[in-house]
Amino acid sequence: MKIVLMVLGVVGLSLAALEIPEHLKAAVKIMRKACLVESGVDEKYVNQSRDGNLPDVPKLGCYILCFFEHAGMIEEDGTIHFNDVLHLLSPSLAETAKYVSEECKTIHGDTRCDTAWLTTKCFFEKAPEGSELP
Ligand SMILES: *[C@@H]1O[C@H](CO)[C@@H](O)[C@H](O)[C@H]1NC(C)=O
Repeated sequence: MKIVLMVLGVVGLSLAALEIPEHLKAAVKIMRKACLVESGVDEKYVNQSRDGNLPDVPKLGCYILCFFEHAGMIEEDGTIHFNDVLHLLSPSLAETAKYVSEECKTIHGDTRCDTAWLTTKCFFEKAPEGSELP
C-alpha cells in the first residue's frame, strides 16, 4: 500500500485524490508523520510542495528519501524506479510514472537525500500538473 501511495504522491496527489480510498489516506498520514520525524524537516516545506514547486532544503530530500526507502523504490546505487509498482497503477498514471522515471533515473546527488530531492525535482519538472509531496 505504501508503495502505491508514494507513487501517487510523486506523480500527482490531485490524481490520487480521485483514486485513493478514504482508509488509505490514513496510511499516508502515518508515513508523513514518521518521515517528518526521521528527516527532521520543517513541515512547512512539505506543505509548500505544490504544483511542481519543491523547496530547496536539504532535509526535504531526506524526507522524500524516507518514502522511497520504505516503498523499496531506491536501489543501493541510488537509482530510483517504479518498476515494481507500475502494475498497481491505473494505465494513465503508470504511463506518467514510466515516463518520469525514464527521464529522471540517471540523476544522482552527493548523498542519498540529495539524489531523492534532485530526482523528485526532475519528476515535478516533467509532470508539474498537480505534483506534490505526500
Ligand atoms: C501542513 O499541512 C498539514 C495538513 O494540511 C497541517 O495539518 C499542518 O498544520 C501544516 N503544517 C504547517 C507547518 O504549516
